[in-house]
This record gives sequence, C-alpha cells and structure tokens, in this order.
Amino acid sequence: VDLVTKTFQNDSIRDHSYLYIDNSTGSLFVGARNYLVQLKLEDISDKSALKTEKVVASDENRKLCSFNGKSVEYCQNYIKYIVRVDNSTLYFCGTDANTPSEYQVTINDNKLEISSPQKATACPRDPKDNTTAVYVTSGNPGDVPALYSATILDNGKATISRPQLVKDGKKVSEKLENADPIRWLNEPQFVASFDVGEDVYFFFREIALEYTNFMKKMVSRVARVCKKDLGGSSLLVNKWTTYQKARLNCSLPGSFPFYFDLIQDVQLVNNTFYGLFISSVNGSSGSAICAFTVDSVKDRFADRVYKYRETPNSIWTPLPASKIPDKSEPGKCINDSKSLKDVEENFMMEYPLKDAPVQQQGNKPLVFMDGIQMHVLQVDKERSRQGGSLILYAASNTGEVYKIHSWDNGKKQAISTVFSPLPKSEVIWDM
Ligand SMILES: *[C@@H]1O[C@H](CO)[C@@H](O)[C@H](O)[C@H]1NC(C)=O
Ligand SMILES: *[C@@H]1O[C@H](CO)[C@@H](O)[C@H](O)[C@H]1NC(C)=O
Ligand SMILES: *[C@@H]1O[C@H](CO)[C@@H](O)[C@H](O)[C@H]1NC(C)=O
Ligand SMILES: *[C@@H]1O[C@H](CO)[C@@H](O)[C@H](O)[C@H]1NC(C)=O
Ligand SMILES: *[C@@H]1O[C@H](CO)[C@@H](O)[C@H](O)[C@H]1NC(C)=O
Ligand SMILES: *[C@@H]1O[C@H](CO)[C@@H](O)[C@H](O)[C@H]1NC(C)=O
Ligand SMILES: *[C@@H]1O[C@H](CO)[C@@H](O)[C@H](O)[C@H]1NC(C)=O
Ligand SMILES: *[C@@H]1O[C@H](CO)[C@@H](O)[C@H](O)[C@H]1NC(C)=O
Repeated sequence: VDLVTKTFQNDSIRDHSYLYIDNSTGSLFVGARNYLVQLKLEDISDKSALKTEKVVASDENRKLCSFNGKSVEYCQNYIKYIVRVDNSTLYFCGTDANTPSEYQVTINDNKLEISSPQKATACPRDPKDNTTAVYVTSGNPGDVPALYSATILDNGKATISRPQLVKDGKKVSEKLENADPIRWLNEPQFVASFDVGEDVYFFFREIALEYTNFMKKMVSRVARVCKKDLGGSSLLVNKWTTYQKARLNCSLPGSFPFYFDLIQDVQLVNNTFYGLFISSVNGSSGSAICAFTVDSVKDRFADRVYKYRETPNSIWTPLPASKIPDKSEPGKCINDSKSLKDVEENFMMEYPLKDAPVQQQGNKPLVFMDGIQMHVLQVDKERSRQGGSLILYAASNTGEVYKIHSWDNGKKQAISTVFSPLPKSEVIWDM
C-alpha cells in the first residue's frame, strides 16, 4: 500500500460536498450539510486542532422551504463552495433552505467567526446543482479582487457572473453576467473554474444545440471571459463582451470516435488542464482522463472560426469569415470593452461557440477505465511539478479511489493502488 490514511469522522456531520485545502493556514476546510469544519491538514484526525461551526438555516427559512413542497433533506444548508479572500478570510455559500446565502469567515487561532447570512448573488437553491467559483485577485478592472462564479439562479437560468467592482468609493465595473439566449448556456452543470493570465476559464457540461436535431445530447465545454471586460454599451450592457465557449474532445480514437461527453472534474497543473469525463450516466459507463494544454485552449479561443446555422432548420456549419465585422478581433481582451462597435457586440451575442473542439493532448485519453463511473479528480501537484510522473487520484461513484501514475508524456500509465476509504459503497463527492 502506498497511501497513509488518517480519518476524521463525526456522524452528525454529513454530506461533505466541498473540500478546500488552505495551505497558508495548514488547514483542510470541509463544507458539509449545516457545518463548516476546519481540520489540520497534516493530520485530519487531530481533535485538538478541530474547529466546527454550525451553519443552519433559520426556522423561518426551513418552514417556508417545506411549505413550498420541498423535502426535509432539501431544506438544509448545503455548502456549495469555499474560497479564500485573504490570509484570514474565507467566503462560502450555502443553499440555506431554498434561500441561497453567502457567508464570510474570519479565521482566528481558536475559533471560526462566521458572519450572518447575506443574500447570495451566486449560489444555487437546489443542493444537487453543481456550482463553481474562483476568487481572482489581480487583473480585474481597477485591480479590484472579485469572485467569478457559475451557477444556476432562482429562475432556473444559468449564469457566469462577476459582481459590481468598487475602488475607493468609485464604481469601476458594473456587475457582469451572461446574456440570456440558450446559445450562451443551455441547462449546464458547472464543474470547475480557473484564473489563468488575463482570462477566467469555466468547465461545464450542457445540452448541445448543435446536435439537438436528433435528441438531447450533452457535451463538455470550456468557456472563457476576459478579466478586463467591462461589458458593452448597446446590446451587451452588463453582459460579457468576451464570452466564448468550445467543446472539449475527450474520446477514444477510431473511424467512429467514442466520446466521453460528461465532464465531472478538472485540475490544472503544469499548464495543462486534466479533465475527468464519463460517457453516460446510465448502464455501463466508462471514464476517461484527458489532458488539454492551456495553450490549446487559448489557441482555440483565438481562432476566428465559429459555429452557426443559417436558419433554425439548417445544420450547424463554420461561419463564413465574411460575417466577422471588418477589422474586429472578437473576444480579444481590451481595456475598454465599452468602446466596441454595435456590430461587434452583435457578433459576440450571436456567436458564442467556436466551430472546432479543443483537442485532447496526444489525440487520446491519458487514462480510460471501462465500466467505472469516476466522479472526482485530484492531482498531486507538487510531485507532478517535480517531474518524473504525473500522479492522479480518481474517485468513483461507488467509493473507490484509484491512484494513477502517468509518465512519458502521457504515453504510459499504471494504477498503483485502489483504495476504499468509506465503510460502504457510496459516491465520493470531493477529494
Ligand atoms: C460531532 O460534532 C458535533 C458538533 O460539533 C459535536 O457536538 C459532537 O460532540 C461531535 N461528536 C463526536 C463523537 O465527536
Ligand atoms: C504548502 O505548505 C507546505 C508546508 O508549509 C509547503 O512545503 C508547500 O510548498 C506548500 N505548497 C504550496 C502549493 O504552496
Ligand atoms: C499571507 O500569507 C502569505 C504566505 O502564505 C504571506 O507571504 C503574506 O505575507 C501574508 N499576508 C499577510 C497580509 O499576512
Ligand atoms: C451534479 O453533478 C453530479 C455529479 O456529476 C450529478 O450526479 C448530479 O446529477 C448533478 N446535478 C444535476 C442537477 O444535474
Ligand atoms: C438515463 O436513465 C434515466 C432514467 O431511467 C432516463 O430518464 C434518461 O433519459 C436516461 N439518459 C440517457 C442519456 O439515456
Ligand atoms: C491598457 O491598460 C494598461 C494598464 O492600465 C496600460 O498599461 C495599457 O497601455 C493599456 N493598453 C491600451 C491599448 O490602451
Ligand atoms: C476528436 O478526437 C478524435 C481523436 O483524436 C478525432 O478522431 C475526432 O475527429 C475528434 N472529433 C472532433 C469533432 O474534432
Ligand atoms: C511539470 O513541469 C515541470 C517544469 O516545466 C517539469 O520539470 C516536470 O517534469 C513536469 N511534470 C510532468 C509530470 O510532466
């Protein structure tokens, strides 16, 4: 066995759906149902370092929630994400019995101080909805730090948003979010987000409009927005002017490639996104881990080929270059997006989707596992950065954790350990 394990267990603290490693305080924060827990990273079983705070929905919220026909399970407070704001402050959001709330946590030596709930701008109501958020500290307008989040809103619509930014009492940016058309986002489930250079990237799966001629087909996507975006001045007021998305191609090659269309998780290490995908939620699903270099994602967003259809009944084809407004560079990060011409804003509104997918590195998955549904991915970043082999951990929906080594530029891999940390077969939600 090449794993040393320590355990923290408390039967009243359940549904550990979000884990956050805070290296600067040497802690593991656990977002659970009705609890925020701080554990010592070096030894999570160390009770002397344990801090637990209850974060329950108010009686009023719970009453209203069940009055609205929701189950007792639903009407709890599920923590959906945790981000660090500075050395002594975290933000997290919770579903708060159907009234999503945001909280601020001050980390003291002996206690976690949690603020009273504020109405969340970016948190789902439904505990089952998948949300992602990333706190970006540099590169925003005025260099004001901001939370970028992707979530399903109250009205069932999905959005990627950034709140209003204020510097020295002066507004430097409006709140930005997605425009409404389902071309931008169509029933997505978000899995991860990353701050990379001048962009923020979001990974999700959604129903692909470009294939719905046959049936509802989900595909995996990466979308990006530029941090400097200020929104537009005509059609895209308070909306991103730099939103673009592309399909992710994680597939077994062949004359009929076999696609893994349901992205589950993503990790970023060594300028490469490692994505975990499954092929289907039903029956005999397989899982794959595919690598996408940051450069291949950037190159895709910099190309000038978009997908479009001439009429609602036409098939989707590459957009003729002549339709791109003269002298424009759609999606480019510019200092003043409010100076875009109306035709340029129109273009960004109409054509969010790139024609070609982002292709997997090496034209095949790094790892393919038949008959197993993987759900969470982690990378041993420090050891992988040191070189030699990449060390991945993938957790399944039946409670197994696979330790995988990949070397020789992804050409070779081996599983060294299969580990079952839980007493019974159940989904591992985070790792
Ligand atoms: C579990 O956590 C709760 C809440 O902090 C605490 O009251 C209880 O004593 C803990 N149980 C055990 C067995 O440690
Ligand atoms: C995390 O902290 C450990 C111990 O202080 C340190 O060795 C390591 O380099 C840190 N890792 C990162 C990613 O900062
Ligand atoms: C925050 O922590 C980092 C190391 O994790 C340190 O370099 C920095 O000085 C700290 N900042 C403050 C304000 O304490
Ligand atoms: C959220 O993601 C999990 C894991 O992929 C999935 O089981 C669940 O159905 C998703 N939630 C929704 C509402 O689709
Ligand atoms: C999976 O099974 C569920 C329930 O049997 C069904 O509603 C759904 O349409 C199936 N999905 C696919 C992609 O076959
Ligand atoms: C954009 O803003 C940055 C920082 O304020 C400045 O250095 C740069 O020259 C500006 N670029 C243009 C094209 O105005
Ligand atoms: C996806 O990748 C496979 C393997 O490299 C390739 O055969 C296939 O054509 C690609 N699909 C698309 C839509 O680009
Ligand atoms: C990650 O990048 C570092 C620096 O470029 C390199 O030394 C290392 O071998 C890479 N790791 C892997 C697993 O490729």
